[in-house]
Amino acid sequence: MKKILVIHGPNLDLLGQREPAIYGKATLNEINSGLKKIAKKKKVGLSIKQSNHEGEIVDLIGKAKPRYDALLINPAAYTHTSVAIRDAIAASGIVTVEVHLSNIYSREEFRQKSLISPVAKGTILGFGPKSYSLGLEALIDLI
Ligand code: DQA
Repeated sequence: MKKILVIHGPNLDLLGQREPAIYGKATLNEINSGLKKIAKKKKVGLSIKQSNHEGEIVDLIGKAKPRYDALLINPAAYTHTSVAIRDAIAASGIVTVEVHLSNIYSREEFRQKSLISPVAKGTILGFGPKSYSLGLEALIDLI
């Protein structure tokens, strides 16, 4: 069975109560339940992690291969700052889809650059929780 690692970055544990006008009302648990349903239907294994710590995310990506076949990641604020997470993805060579709830290109200028997109197979953003389900389905098709 193919296995996919899902990583949620900083502050995504607060979804549902965090700036709902931007990120919506769905909680992280609700998003994860939706992903688990898709994985079950498509018969892929899923492991889901959330971390507020850059180094921990780097470690998770570093250890992802060979256990996992693909990575679905919302790097959250680290999208815009983390050379370390970008390098970890590039070093692992793991097929990666980057997702965002909001459309980062329609927001503040400092969010309008992703250091992760160049090392991702693709990026899905702006569709709220649907960004995750679209991203997962795209990854499943790839592996
Ligand atoms: C986010 C966008 C980031 O700019 C922000 O820091 C987040 C969430 C999104 O999913 O829209 O925490 O990645």
